[in-house]
Parts: sequence; structure tokens; C-alpha cells
Amino acid sequence: MKKYNVVVLGATGAVGLEFRKLLVERNFPIDKIKFLGKSTVGQEIPFGDTTVTVEAVEDGCFDGFDIALFSGGGAISLEVAKKAVAAGCVVVDNSSAWRMDPDVPLVVPEVNPDAVAAHKGIIANPNCTTIQMVVCLQAIEKLSHITKVHVSTYQAASGAGASGMAELEEQTKQIVNGEEPTVEKFAYQLAMNIIPQVDVFTDNGYTKEEMKMYYETKKIMDSDINVSATCVRIPVMRNHSEAIWLETEKELDLADVRKAFENAPGVTVVDDPASQKYPMPLFGAGEDDVFVGRIRKDLTNPKGLTFWCVGDQIKKGAALNTVQIAELMIEKGLL
Ligand SMILES: NC(=O)c1ccc[n+]([C@@H]2O[C@H](COP(=O)([O-])OP(=O)(O)OC[C@H]3O[C@@H](n4cnc5c(N)ncnc54)[C@H](OP(=O)(O)O)[C@@H]3O)[C@@H](O)[C@H]2O)c1
Repeated sequence: MKKYNVVVLGATGAVGLEFRKLLVERNFPIDKIKFLGKSTVGQEIPFGDTTVTVEAVEDGCFDGFDIALFSGGGAISLEVAKKAVAAGCVVVDNSSAWRMDPDVPLVVPEVNPDAVAAHKGIIANPNCTTIQMVVCLQAIEKLSHITKVHVSTYQAASGAGASGMAELEEQTKQIVNGEEPTVEKFAYQLAMNIIPQVDVFTDNGYTKEEMKMYYETKKIMDSDINVSATCVRIPVMRNHSEAIWLETEKELDLADVRKAFENAPGVTVVDDPASQKYPMPLFGAGEDDVFVGRIRKDLTNPKGLTFWCVGDQIKKGAALNTVQIAELMIEKGLL
């Protein structure tokens, strides 16, 4: 089996840690591995049963590598992704830098796997909230076209990276000790609070995160679907949850909807109200699938449907989806 030279840019971050685990767990065919970073350059970090020294992003750092998995944020991605491509790498990027570029496929393997073939060197990984939503929406789209979606997200602190997790942990300790919580990463204290703002506001009153859900869903599903989102940060360490209301062209039977979710790749149904079984962020960390529950008809609309989903946004929302894209490229002979 062919093996590949792999670069991970951002290997020390929240997403990077998952890359390191997944590449080993999924036996990704690696010949040579390189980790790139910024503040951790020179540090030895674990990879499987060995360690790798973090190197700096500099001229020539991508030479001789086949694929680069980026989780270093938008700024560094804009700066170096094209240089990596010029050096012969295919870049799969986790930031929002390239997602809406018409030359860049935006891929969720369960939804639009064939889109990878059109890549010109860069493939974008969608926003985490969008990924877990479209994995679920695709199941319903197969039954009837979805015209619109209303979604409220409940987003974990780790969605803001390793420093987001650290801030929630620190604030929780400070509150328990009767101290004033330190607020740096989020707009307000997150512990014992929820914040109806993820990312910055745009002119239409929606945040950038909410507009990502609007635009990215259309691109991934290749659809005129309209998404109106309210994105909320909650004091949970890991796993995003979403309450989703959708409207389809045809009226759907609830039994068919349930079956569609049960058969959908990447979805696990946990939905037994009688025994209080539904997905929760407490139980989904480290899981690959998106968990769906509270499936019911919308009382206000015969063509409406509503459900709840929970996904590990660092895995399926980021690292796992990226590694799946790389695996898909190998499977399709594109790497
Ligand atoms: N966290 C999530 O749930 C999630 C989900 C989906 C997508 N994403 C996206 O994935 C990216 C990374 O997120 P994260 O949560 O992993 O962030 P993070 O925990 O803050 O980690 C950032 C990583 O990027 C590296 N980095 C930053 N600037 C760099 C530069 N100029 N050159 C080289 N390396 C640089 C850092 O390296 P050093 O440690 O060496 O400084 C670190 O490894 C972001 O674009 C984010 O939007 C995150």
C-alpha cells in the first residue's frame, strides 16, 4: 500500500491533538510526518508511541510532502496554503479562510464526497456546527427537498480552541473559590452563563458563525436551502448540540424520517422519550457519529420536522472530517 508524507500544521491545538490520535487510530498510511506550529516550535509532542519535534512554518517546509492537514487558523492558512500547494501538497484546511472560494471544494464525506475531485490543491473542511447539521439534513433531503431550517446551537467552550477550554475550567474554579472570574477569551463570563454570540456580528444582525451555517450549507448540499441560525456558547467543555426545525417540500411520515436517520451514514439515533433517552454533550465526547434524538413533527407546520443533535465538534466537526477527506482522496486515487 502506498504511504504518504503528511504535514500537520497546528498539531498542538485542540484540533491538532485529535489529528494526532486519529492518524494513529485509523492507521493512516504515513511514510514521513512533520508537525508545524508557532509558540511550541522545538517542543517534542507525542505521536503514537513516539514523539515528533514541532517545527516552524518557513520557506521549503512543505517540500517533499503529499498532504497537509491545517488547523492553525485563518491567518496562517491564507499566508501559506498556496505555497504548500505550489510545493506539491494537497491542503485540507480547517479554518474559514477558503471555504467559500469557488475553486475550493467544501466537503463532508457523508454528504458530497464527489466534490473532492474538483480540487485545485486546497479542500476546505466546513464549520463544525454546519458539519454536524448537514450530516443529519442529508438523511431528510433524500426523502424530500428541505426548503428551510431554523437552528439554535448550544456550542461547547472547546469550539474556541484549547484556550476556550482553559478559560471555562479556570472560571469554574474561581467561582467555586469565591473569586472574581477572569474573562479573556469570550465576551462575558461563560461559567454559570450562556452567551448568545459566537464570533463577531455582521451588518444584518447575525454573527459570522450564523452566516457560515447559512452559506456553507447551501454550498455543501448544492441546494437553495435557507438556514436561519442563532449560535449560542454554553458552559460545556466538549460537544456541540443543536435544536433544528426544518421544512420539506412534501409532508413526511415520522416513521420514514426515523428510518432515514437510522440508515444515514455518520448518524446514530438515540430517541426513546419513554425512558428519557436522548443525546447529550455529557456522553458524546470522542464519538465519531452525530447523535440524533427528540425526533418529532413540528406542531405548527405539517411539512415541518424538529429534532435535536449532538456531535463531537473537535472530531466530526473538525479533525475526523479532515482525515476522512484525506482517506476519501486515497480511495478515489486522487492522492
Ligand atoms: N476547536 C474546534 O472545535 C474547531 C472545530 C472546527 C474548526 N476549528 C478550526 O480549527 C482551527 C484550529 O482550532 P483549534 O481549536 O485547534 O485552535 P487552538 O487550540 O487555539 O490551536 C491552534 C493551533 O494553531 C497553531 N498556530 C497558530 N498560529 C500559527 C502560526 N502562525 N503558524 C503555525 N501554527 C500556528 C498553534 O500552534 P502553537 O501551539 O505552536 O502556537 C496551535 O497548534 C481554527 O481555524 C478553528 O476555527 C476548530
